[in-house]
Amino acid sequence: TTVHWEVTRNEIAEVEGIPLTTRMYGIWDKIWAFQAKPDDLLIATYAKAGTTWIQEIVDMIQQDGDTKKCKRAAVYERIPFIEWVVHESLPSGLEQAEKIPSPRTLKTHLPVQLVPPSFWEQNCKIIYVARNAKDSAVSYYHFHRMNQIMPEPGTWEEFLEKYKAGKVLWGSWYDHVKGWWKAKDNHRILYLFYEDIKENPRREIQKVMKFLEKDLEKEVLDKIIQNTQFENMKDNPMANYTTKPPELMNHKISPFMRKGAVGDWKNHFTVAQNERFDEDYEQKMEGISLTFRMEL
Ligand code: A3P
Repeated sequence: TTVHWEVTRNEIAEVEGIPLTTRMYGIWDKIWAFQAKPDDLLIATYAKAGTTWIQEIVDMIQQDGDTKKCKRAAVYERIPFIEWVVHESLPSGLEQAEKIPSPRTLKTHLPVQLVPPSFWEQNCKIIYVARNAKDSAVSYYHFHRMNQIMPEPGTWEEFLEKYKAGKVLWGSWYDHVKGWWKAKDNHRILYLFYEDIKENPRREIQKVMKFLEKDLEKEVLDKIIQNTQFENMKDNPMANYTTKPPELMNHKISPFMRKGAVGDWKNHFTVAQNERFDEDYEQKMEGISLTFRMEL
């Protein structure tokens, strides 16, 4: 596949104080008016929390562990990313969502207050995955480097400051994880952690099955665990984003399936960066019963 337009990095435009791209800003009224259906399942995450991983897990469960069916299309086509606009000449996430048959599974990175209201009105099930702030920051930085339509990341040091200040796409990690954490008390939200899935995929996949009211044989569960392991997803073109044109995603700069680990932040944060990060983190995460593991 080739790209017939000039690939440039997106500029940021804020919606209700949340940095989005100018393209998302341009169709914000349509995004906000999105019509969810009662049997829609929404996968919500802050960027780089393991979205693709949970997407593959969910699709494997829905397809009863049929790996062939899960390879029917790239993950970003199987599960439309509702607010995303790559380019005006391509179908937007909204248009893709409108095209696929029900029951639909949809993806969003929106903070809870920007989720189109019809998802709440229709009482849709939502799976939220959260990942610790430090690994998320590192993963997000490398993703900005490889994805040529993400805003310019600058140096790691510069990126980390923007990340802490919430001046990155989809806003503050801190507000995102906290907002969704509070929302789970009033809505049908399964709140999962990347670190838990990494530690015990069987236990966490079983939680997803229960949430989706799916009962699968042990052999099927084994197959799902196997197929959604990092190494297998890294080798799977329908999951690893290598089907995107290289002008958009340059896996030579940094592969989409980069490390898939807990604690890789230790290879990036300097001692000083880590101390300042912890200090700031404590303030931002004060008074909430939400804790993260930064290592396993
Ligand atoms: P790293 O950059 O730390 O490797 P998202 O899908 O939300 O964009 O998140 C991408 C991150 O999830 C990347 O993190 C990627 O490697 C990791 N990831 C994807 N599939 C995974 C899997 N099966 N197991 C563990 N991590 C996975």
